[in-house]
Amino acid sequence: MRLLIMGAPGAGKGTQAGLIKDAFPIAHISTGDMFRKAIAMQTPMGKVAKTYIDKGDLVPDEVTIELVRERLQEEDCKNGFLLDGFPRTVEQAVALDNILKDLNIKLDAVLNIAVDDKYLIDRITGRRVCLSCGASYHVVANKPKVEGKCDSCGGDLIQRPDDSEETIKNRLAVYYQKTKPVLDYYVKQELVKDVPGVGNIDEIFANIKKVLGEI
Ligand code: AP5
Ligand code: MG
Repeated sequence: MRLLIMGAPGAGKGTQAGLIKDAFPIAHISTGDMFRKAIAMQTPMGKVAKTYIDKGDLVPDEVTIELVRERLQEEDCKNGFLLDGFPRTVEQAVALDNILKDLNIKLDAVLNIAVDDKYLIDRITGRRVCLSCGASYHVVANKPKVEGKCDSCGGDLIQRPDDSEETIKNRLAVYYQKTKPVLDYYVKQELVKDVPGVGNIDEIFANIKKVLGEI
């Protein structure tokens, strides 16, 4: 299966991607997680990415596209992949089409997690993420079993620096301006499967599994 998962910041892409990768043998590729890892390791690319991410702006296309091009050629993508947070601009979507053409493969579906804006600020400000594996939790809706520790790997949970209320407003504005058109791009290719993203996390995942069973 070759999938994209799309949705506004805080829609639950990472949360559902974690469940999907546990249920299906496909690689979870989150460009946000890749940038956060590069920032933590203080690589040259991480230092560039940080200047954009901290403001809630997008990292330039040329950086992001090359990162994904290389990642998609790794061994674990042979069984399929789930791209989370990429593409985020129409230019990235066109580049992805070209990368997939070169690899002689096609996308099977684009999952669109639909959540009304009014829920997003609370989800993002209440989020805690694992420093080691990137798993997402929420201080009310999705608590870890042990406070401050990741259920999956035991890593420390932190608040993302770009999860401040000020930065979130810009991230949402950027989503509507640059990323919403990407959804229309895939609607035209008849790949989009809408999944309601409000309610219980397991019920949303059950809906996703149903959709994936039909593709
Ligand atoms: P990225 O890491 O992709 O962030 P995002 O798109 O803003 O999305 P989030 O990770 O904030 O939200 P999510 O949908 O994954 O929600 P989650 O599951 O965590 O990107 C970060 C930055 O990197 C970008 O701003 C940009 O600068 C850069 N970047 C990344 N990719 C790029 C690209 N392609 N091009 C250029 N720049 C790029 O859930 C959110 C919270 O809600 C959690 O607390 C969770 O526990 C909770 N929650 C989840 N589901 C539910 C539910 N059903 N009910 C209640 N709470 C829930
Ligand atoms: Mg995420």
